[in-house]
Amino acid sequence: MQEAKHEHWSSGWTFLLAAVGSAVGLGNIWRFPYIVAENGGGAFVLIYMAIVVVFGIPLLMSELMIGRNSQKPPLAAMQSFEGSKPQMLWNAVGWSYLLVPMGILTFYSVVAGWTLDYALGMGIGTFNNLPEGGSATMFQDLLASPVKLIFWMTLSIGITVGIVARGLKSGLEKTVKILMPALFIILIILVLYASITGDFARSFAFMFKPDFSKITPELVLMAAGQAFFSLSLGSGAIMVYGSYLTRDISIPKMAVGVAFADTAVALLAGFAIFPIVFAFGVDHSAGPGLVFVTLPIVFNDMGGIGQVFGVLFFLLLAFAAITSTISLLEPMVAQMSQSGRVTRARVAIYCGAVLWSVGVFVALSNNILQDFHPLGFLPLFEGKTIADTIEFLSANLFMLLNGLLVSVFVGWSVKRSVTLEEMGLGDSVLFKVWFLLVRYIVPLGVGFIFYDVVL
Ligand code: TRP
Repeated sequence: MQEAKHEHWSSGWTFLLAAVGSAVGLGNIWRFPYIVAENGGGAFVLIYMAIVVVFGIPLLMSELMIGRNSQKPPLAAMQSFEGSKPQMLWNAVGWSYLLVPMGILTFYSVVAGWTLDYALGMGIGTFNNLPEGGSATMFQDLLASPVKLIFWMTLSIGITVGIVARGLKSGLEKTVKILMPALFIILIILVLYASITGDFARSFAFMFKPDFSKITPELVLMAAGQAFFSLSLGSGAIMVYGSYLTRDISIPKMAVGVAFADTAVALLAGFAIFPIVFAFGVDHSAGPGLVFVTLPIVFNDMGGIGQVFGVLFFLLLAFAAITSTISLLEPMVAQMSQSGRVTRARVAIYCGAVLWSVGVFVALSNNILQDFHPLGFLPLFEGKTIADTIEFLSANLFMLLNGLLVSVFVGWSVKRSVTLEEMGLGDSVLFKVWFLLVRYIVPLGVGFIFYDVVL
C-alpha cells in the first residue's frame, strides 16, 4: 500500500494567506466586536492583545513546530516524536486535536450559513424598508426555521467539503489566494466608509481608552477564550497547516505574522462597525445580534448605498467563514487519508456526512430542540442546548486543554535540540524567552484559566 504523497505550500506567502485565512473568521468579524462591546471596550482590547502576545504567539510557534517537524497530521504528529512519554497521553491529545475542530465545525457551519442567507437577502433587497424592530424579527425568523438553517448549513458544509476534497494546491491554496485578497479589499472599503461617514473619534476612544476598573477575572477569561478561538489554537488547524511548511521558512516570523494580521482584522472589523453604529445611535451592546440585527437597521437607514455595503459586509463574513471552515476540516481529512488507503475526496465526503448529521441537531437546537439540554444534569452544562454543549466542549474546554497540554509537550517532552533547530533562532535571548513562556507561563496561565472555566 502506497502512502499518500505529503504536499507542501507553494511558498511562505501562500502559507501565510492560508493560516491568516484560518485565523480570520467569524471570530474576528462577528464575535470580537460584540464581545468588546459587552465587556466595556478598551480594557478588554488591551487584555486581549496582551494574551495574544504572551500565550498566542508562543503557542502558534509550538503548534507550527509540531506540524513542521513531523510533516504529519495532528494524531500521527503527536505519535512521531521520539521519546515523548507518556505516549498514551499524547495519543489522546492527538485525537483531541482532530475532534475539536470537527466539533467547532458543527456549529460554525450553521453560523456560516446565516452569513450566506444574509448576503443573499441583502442582495435581493429583503432588508429594504424594514419597519421598526423588523431586523430583530427577521433574525428570529431565520433561527426559528429548521428548513432555512439546514439548507444554508448544508451549503456551507458542501462548499467546505468541495474545497478540501481537491487537496492542498488546487483546493486550499486556490481558495485562499482568491478569497483573502477579496476579504482585505472589502474590509478596507468598509472601514474607510465607516470612518468618513460615522463617528470615528468615539469608536477610537471606545476601543483604545481602557477603563481599568472594568478588568475582572471574567473579563480575562473571556479575552483568553476569544484569543484562542480567533487564532485557531488548540484545534489542529495550525498544526496541520504547519505540516505543509518547508524547512526554509521561519516559524517565529510566521507566528508573529498570523497573530498580527488576525488582531489587525479584529480591530478593523471594530472600525467598520462601531463608527456607523454610534453615528446611527443604535444599541452597540446587542450581543450576538450586533452584526445580524443592528447592522441591517443601519444599512437600511443609509438607503441605496446601504444595500451595496450590506452585500459587501455579509460577503466579507462569508469569505472569512469559508477560509476558516476549510482549516477546521483539513486536520481530520489529512489524518484519515494519510495511509493512502482511502482517497482524500472520499474521506472529505464521509466527514462532511458526519458533520451534517450532527449539524442538523445543532440547527434544530435553535428551534424545535430549544428546550433539550443533553447534559443538563451536570452543573457545568445546565441550561445548555445541543449547540451550546458542543460549543462549550470544543471551543472552551478541550480547546484550552489542548493548548495547555501542547505547551507541556513542547516545553517538557520534546527534546530541546529539536525545538532549538525548528525555531531557527539559535540559542538566543528570543529563543530563551519563548522557551520560558512555553515551559512555565503558558501552562500555568492556561491551567489557571481552565480551572476557572471548569470550577
Ligand atoms: N479562528 C477562526 C475565527 O476566528 C475560527 C477557527 C478556524 C477556529 N479554525 C479554528 C477556531 C480552529 C478554533 C480552532 O473565526
